[in-house]
Amino acid sequence: MAALKTEVLKVDAVAPAFETVERAADVLRRGGLVAFPTETVYGLGANALDRSAVSAVFLAKGRPVNNPLIVHVAAVDQVKALVHDWPAAAQRLAETFWPGPLTLVVSRSSIVPDEVTAGRDTVAIRIPSHPVALALLGAAQTPIAAPSANRSSRLSPTSAAHVLRQLEGRIDLVLDAGPCPGGLESTVIDLTTNPPRLLRPGLIPPDRLRKVIGAIELPEDCPPPASNASDKSSAALPSPGMLPKHYAPLVPLECVEKEAERKVLYWRDRGQKVGWLTFSAPQDLGDMVIVSAMPGEPAACAHRLYGALHALETAGVDRIIAELPPHREEWLAVRDRLVRASRK
Ligand code: TXA
Ligand code: MG
Repeated sequence: MAALKTEVLKVDAVAPAFETVERAADVLRRGGLVAFPTETVYGLGANALDRSAVSAVFLAKGRPVNNPLIVHVAAVDQVKALVHDWPAAAQRLAETFWPGPLTLVVSRSSIVPDEVTAGRDTVAIRIPSHPVALALLGAAQTPIAAPSANRSSRLSPTSAAHVLRQLEGRIDLVLDAGPCPGGLESTVIDLTTNPPRLLRPGLIPPDRLRKVIGAIELPEDCPPPASNASDKSSAALPSPGMLPKHYAPLVPLECVEKEAERKVLYWRDRGQKVGWLTFSAPQDLGDMVIVSAMPGEPAACAHRLYGALHALETAGVDRIIAELPPHREEWLAVRDRLVRASRK
């Protein structure tokens, strides 16, 4: 694809300047691509009702066309035009968690282009809570289709610098509002099944959803066992975004459950420079190891995780060893991202 000049506009994360947001909205109205901050990660936005703009998102990311996009809206009343059916459970979840990091998959109306939904009869929708995202949606006066603003299968971006590293020259504009507060993607839940099915663990843990709508089904492979890496066919996957390999740094990453395993891995390839993501107290292992200590609390860890992986990716390490947090539900999203990042 021909290189674009990617413009970067700084914008206040709490009180975004009207003129700046208006310029970005204008790019969207003309069919352009704008990376913008949300409370989870940076999104790569296009006018969701403009087929060619949506196709340009897939091209810029190198995203498989069978992986549908999330449609972002400014208010619940905008949802009605996009959906065929709005179940009571969707309404209750929307009232509880929107604006916020929860994506609802419901049956779609014909107004939503096939390019957005990858030809499915469902659409994924959320209202983000970041003031810049809400201002952009308000100014653009249209739903915005936005995947995370990274090249397909690579690390998700939580800063404008992360976006530029992967997409500079491929998109029109980045709205730079500093780091994303949440740091990990939204939770995606499918409300077309009974019970509703969690498609992607995210910032809202399963228990908070159960308190609102009762039983939900977790994916069998959630978090997936590391041994299942060979099946790359996407047609049969309940959520095509749940590809085995995803969210991966450019250097090989291996996950370990236990300290003993970690030591074995560390000594196995002596002489290589190692990035070590750890939940235990950092030790000084000399200049062949860069230690990245993660907080022992899920939300704090989510906030830091991608930033730490981006830093290790650019630090010149040969490989990354990532300790996994406990096998408990509140850690589901962090474990999911690390295990998928380790897939070959
Ligand atoms: O936090 C987030 O959700 C961010 C911000 C920008 O909103 N967006 C994001 O988008 O993570 P993306 O494209 O990286 O991930 C969207 C996920 C994918 O797993 C995709 O397959 C799934 O949502 N998805 C989208 N539409 C779907 C549909 N109709 N049915 C099932 N899964 C769907
Ligand atoms: Mg993504």
